[in-house]
Amino acid sequence: MSEHTIIPVHPQSAEYSLLTPSQLQAMTRRAERDPDGFWLDQAERIHWHSNPTRAFCGSFQDDVEINWYHDGTLNASVSCIDSHLGDRADQVALISHRDGTDEAEKLTYRMLHERVCRLANALQHLGVSRGDRVAISLPMVSEAPIAMLACARIGAVHVVLFGGLSAEAIAERLVDSGARVVITANEIARGAKRIPLKHIMDEALKKAGAESAVETVLVLRTTDAPVAMLPERDLDFHDFVDWFEPDCIPEIMNAEDPLFLLYTSGSTGKPKAVVHTTGGYMVWAAYTMGMVYTHRPNDVLWCTADVAWITGHTSVVYGPLANGSTTMMFDGLPSYPQPGRWWELIERHKVTMLFTAPTAIRSLMREGDDLVNRYDLSSLRLLGTAGEPISPDAWMWYHDVVGKGRCPVVDTWWQTETAGIMLGPIPGAQKLKPGSATMPLPGVSMVLTDTKGDVIEGAGEGCLCVTRSWPGQARTLWKDHARFQQTYFSFSPGLYFTGDGARRDADGYYWITGRMDDVINISGHRIGTAEIEEAVGADRRITECAAVGVPHSVKGQALVVFAIARDEQTSITPEDITRQVSLAIGRYAAPDEVFIVPDLPRTRSGKIVRRLLRKIASGELDTLGDLSMLSDADSVDMLINTVWKEEQTLNVA
Ligand code: WT7
Repeated sequence: MSEHTIIPVHPQSAEYSLLTPSQLQAMTRRAERDPDGFWLDQAERIHWHSNPTRAFCGSFQDDVEINWYHDGTLNASVSCIDSHLGDRADQVALISHRDGTDEAEKLTYRMLHERVCRLANALQHLGVSRGDRVAISLPMVSEAPIAMLACARIGAVHVVLFGGLSAEAIAERLVDSGARVVITANEIARGAKRIPLKHIMDEALKKAGAESAVETVLVLRTTDAPVAMLPERDLDFHDFVDWFEPDCIPEIMNAEDPLFLLYTSGSTGKPKAVVHTTGGYMVWAAYTMGMVYTHRPNDVLWCTADVAWITGHTSVVYGPLANGSTTMMFDGLPSYPQPGRWWELIERHKVTMLFTAPTAIRSLMREGDDLVNRYDLSSLRLLGTAGEPISPDAWMWYHDVVGKGRCPVVDTWWQTETAGIMLGPIPGAQKLKPGSATMPLPGVSMVLTDTKGDVIEGAGEGCLCVTRSWPGQARTLWKDHARFQQTYFSFSPGLYFTGDGARRDADGYYWITGRMDDVINISGHRIGTAEIEEAVGADRRITECAAVGVPHSVKGQALVVFAIARDEQTSITPEDITRQVSLAIGRYAAPDEVFIVPDLPRTRSGKIVRRLLRKIASGELDTLGDLSMLSDADSVDMLINTVWKEEQTLNVA
């Protein structure tokens, strides 16, 4: 398999695609020629209260200001729900399947409307109003999208927090976002695994203390596990919410009012909250999912991402609902109670579009083809992937074994900051190349540059940048516009730098080569090495440390930490360091390997050479390169000994 493998346009996808190859070209040219007209047309994909008359008005240079559709008004919950009540009120909007059970909750658009309105009224009763932040930390149950849409209905800004975060990480986010209400559950239960969400939230609120603005915690009981309630602060979700009216007048929002904050990791410092606003985000969710997923009314889209990530926001909630599809959520593990669980669910719910991460595909692939072949997957018509590079062999397995060669595989490249797909194929209008996220969507103006920011024409490899704003672009970082500008626009004036590197072949197809900054991607989780190093360095027994990502056959990358103990007498073990990271960030960020070392390789000016650490940890000892710039070349031998001689069982291969 090489980049020369070309999968022709799928005949059956042509039947679904809205565009022929020549129409796609015409659309791309139109978007180039008349971006304003193009994006105003795309805005018609969603329901507005009053239509916008301008598309982009802002600046991509100097003082960066991202502003779209500024005179339009809308409510995102109306675009997702009420706008469908006329013609598909009784169509299922949401299927939510619980772990270990045969039961699925199915909510029609009418039922979803009722549930969202009750919660919206309840939040209003608690004093939540326009612009207030509400933190949501829930399992993958229907109350998660309901909570997001209820916030949207009253103009509150949702902040969904990942269930794997530690109390300390949650506390930081509660304080930073200034959330007034928290919506959580007693626990997450998947297979034998339990995460006591409410207990962790209690700890977080204790840590945050007076710095937190949280007044009320709504607690959903998803299992029978007992839960401690603080009478003056905590309310049982259903006991409280079910009393409210099933109708709620939507707050009319300006296009540029924030819809949500979402925390993500960067190459420096603590995680930051990306701000997405209402109009541009909704258009982007509807446009990108509509173009690449070509939604039809009877489609059942199962995106396996957690709602706490951007993929969950856009591909589980806003995208499918804005397009009037059925979205499915599953709160469970792929292999519980039996290894064919995912395939069983596809057969049972007649899923037409499956969207998952390469990590999941790699681990399902390991279970073998027979398991997949035992199920009837004929309902599938489209397969999607995102979040990390997918190797051509995993792509082909997905295509041949899961899709039986019938379904196009859409590898889509995007980020928390882009809100939706930027690179990805339009099925039926484009040939596919396994391992390539294909090309920018019409209207997305992507370039490759060298490290100085000079644009590379034609085939080549460089830094992936965007030259023009797009409606779904993050507007700023919460309370820190200077950091926004610095992070994304300081690379080269007038360009948004994605942080990724890519190669472009002679046909104009893009091949993502991975992050160029200190962000790593473990099983699709984005983690900044700076936050890991900060967590490890917070232990006084450590003087210095370095975290690096190394290739891993299932997880994409594995996290390896090197740490220097304060002195030889200090007793600190790798387990202490792992615990420290779990406490500061969460168990999902725990290092795969920790090495306590006497020193780290440095340049003469004292800078740690992480490139060498990556090579040593991944066993690429033959290509260490020139070591003459090191202040102490002997330290390299010592490191190799520590990693490869004493530790025979390095499990990151
Ligand atoms: C980073 C963004 C898809 C949104 C969820 C992740 C990497 C994303 C691909 C892809 C190769 C990919 C990039 C990007 N990435 N999609 N199709 N091929 N790499 O959002 O957590 O903000 O992470 O994920 O490195 O910068 P995120």
